[in-house]
Amino acid sequence: MADPQIVERIEHLREQIRYHNYRYHVLDAPVISDAEYDALMNELRWLEEMYPELVTPDSPTQRVGGAPVEKFAKVRHPRPILSLANAYSADEVRAWWERIRKLIPPGTPVRFVVEPKIDGLTVVLTYENGRFVQGATRGDGEIGEDITTNLKTIKSLPLRLPADSSQWSAVGDRPEGKDQPIADYRLLVTGRLVVRGEAYIPLSKFEAFKKKMAEAGERIYANPRNTAAGALRQLDPRIAASRPLDLLCYSIVEAEGLEITRQWEVLAALRALGFPVARQVALCDSLEEAIAEAEKWARERNRFNFEADGMVIKIDDLRLQERLGVVGKDPRGAIAYKFPAREATTRLVEVEVNVGRTGILNPVAVLEPVELGGVIIRHATLHNYDDIARKDIRLGDVVQIKRSGDVIPYVVGPVVDLRTGEERPIEPPATCPFCGTPTVRRADQVAVYCPNEDCSGRVVRQVDWFVGVMDIVTLGGETVDLLMRAGLIHDIADIYSLKDRREELLALEGFADKKVENLLAGIEASKKQPLERLLAALGIRHVGATVATLLAQHFGSLDALMAASAEELEGIEGIGPETAEAVRQWFGNPRNRQLIEKLLAAGLRLTADRPSARAGALPLAGKTFVVTGTLPSFSREEAEAFIQAHGGKVSGSVSKKTD
Ligand code: IVH
Repeated sequence: MADPQIVERIEHLREQIRYHNYRYHVLDAPVISDAEYDALMNELRWLEEMYPELVTPDSPTQRVGGAPVEKFAKVRHPRPILSLANAYSADEVRAWWERIRKLIPPGTPVRFVVEPKIDGLTVVLTYENGRFVQGATRGDGEIGEDITTNLKTIKSLPLRLPADSSQWSAVGDRPEGKDQPIADYRLLVTGRLVVRGEAYIPLSKFEAFKKKMAEAGERIYANPRNTAAGALRQLDPRIAASRPLDLLCYSIVEAEGLEITRQWEVLAALRALGFPVARQVALCDSLEEAIAEAEKWARERNRFNFEADGMVIKIDDLRLQERLGVVGKDPRGAIAYKFPAREATTRLVEVEVNVGRTGILNPVAVLEPVELGGVIIRHATLHNYDDIARKDIRLGDVVQIKRSGDVIPYVVGPVVDLRTGEERPIEPPATCPFCGTPTVRRADQVAVYCPNEDCSGRVVRQVDWFVGVMDIVTLGGETVDLLMRAGLIHDIADIYSLKDRREELLALEGFADKKVENLLAGIEASKKQPLERLLAALGIRHVGATVATLLAQHFGSLDALMAASAEELEGIEGIGPETAEAVRQWFGNPRNRQLIEKLLAAGLRLTADRPSARAGALPLAGKTFVVTGTLPSFSREEAEAFIQAHGGKVSGSVSKKTD
């Protein structure tokens, strides 16, 4: 028999670990360092190795335990795990309410709880006397599969209730209002408690996880939901443990100890016991309030750290919900108010080619118009030709398109089952569609390039870039296009000779006096931009705001920079050989030298200010960005360069520092 002091120490350690685990993974508010936490875990592991007879299944050391299984055992749920009916507009939600309202005696006060509808996998968690004993999938709603060992690997899932007993006195906190009786949630920890929740992959972890899987050559799922499903279906719990799964709970399926009669109180009780519960929940006094709440989140859905496909509106009174019954598998007392779709399918009619300022040729899908989230979509991004080949996207395919946030959609992949045999492969262009120059493909890169520096398509993009970095707001993208087509500008420097071509400008469609005045004033103002801004605007590879500032500070003038050798450039702290080479090459090119001559003649500032006047003046100085997904007019690399050119920082993953 182990020394009672050891038993006590082990119990103490477990309690400490449970508490800190809860602070970290559920509340997102740790109170000790990782090192201190690890020390507690190490001590517990050490003691449990010495006294294996004291190991219990709910010990924090047992999150990743158990041997791989052959297949999952079947589990019968204590009562049917229901689904939800959907509504796609406020009027459909009102129609739902009109239907059920007739079943409720007039005058009965009804309130609504609004919650995010997490697009993960339903899980059913069983606790006996406060200990996690079984976790199952939904299955067909009656019978699911036992995935206990995989679920135990989810750090926010409490293995023992309550997660924080020091708060136990506060758990009876009134959900609201003093007149509300204080339920004793302690009763939930005696007997059986069955909780329903959703397992999911946090969006903040999904991109990094995908990258890791790709590097390891492992299978990548298209979205976080499928990734979560794949993780929970792993027969080896160690693999499940390596997936960034998380959990949010929202229902009590069965509670032996205590009947809770309101959904709002269910959420409070789950929280008090230490379950993770979504923060974006609200109690509403009327249906219209509930609709407004749901619509607010539809607009702000990008703020969720999980994929959500709508908001659930539930009648708060659970006895009333029960009374209203079920239609098929859908309870009458709740409805999912779905967000506008972000995915649709349509036919890929053609592939157009865009060119970037560095000559990259980007394929763009021309689609049969389709409605997606209230917008008609005609074009979508096809990332690059390698991606097209990898996904085996063909002309004429029915393709799935996806749109996240407000950015333009991209083609996810073909719907292979709908192929007719008429589809044709998509080849990268052999010649540049803008200038006819044969394209090149660099061995180490996926992109196909137009190598012609004079390519009209490339120049348009260079001018766009210049205009953006120099902050010439009166010269928008479409105007640049128009001026180039009219032959009024051929390169960046031509912008500054527009003032001598007033008559020609006025002759252009839509160019009245006022507009021309504004345009020219904006251009004139840009001449005062400091040297580092100009350097960043030239679009030299690797020269963003930071490098441009270093160069301007070091050399003080464009003349001195142009005369610099590669060695001198490399000698500057913060400038590597690749950047040095790119700078030297750029200034070595006679075309570019000519361009500089023209800019000088136009009166731009080619000497630096005093050092202190710099970085702070840039509009994005001090801000940190993360670029993911697709953007309408930039590739990701361009967006990153653009941010840097405006003084912002770009980081690879979302963290507390991200603005
Ligand atoms: S309530 C009787 N609440 O959505 C209660 N479901 O399409 C029925 N889901 O199968 C479910 N978040 O897996 C409810 N806050 C939430 C939810 C939620 C996600 C899932 C659930 C259900 C599916 C229905």
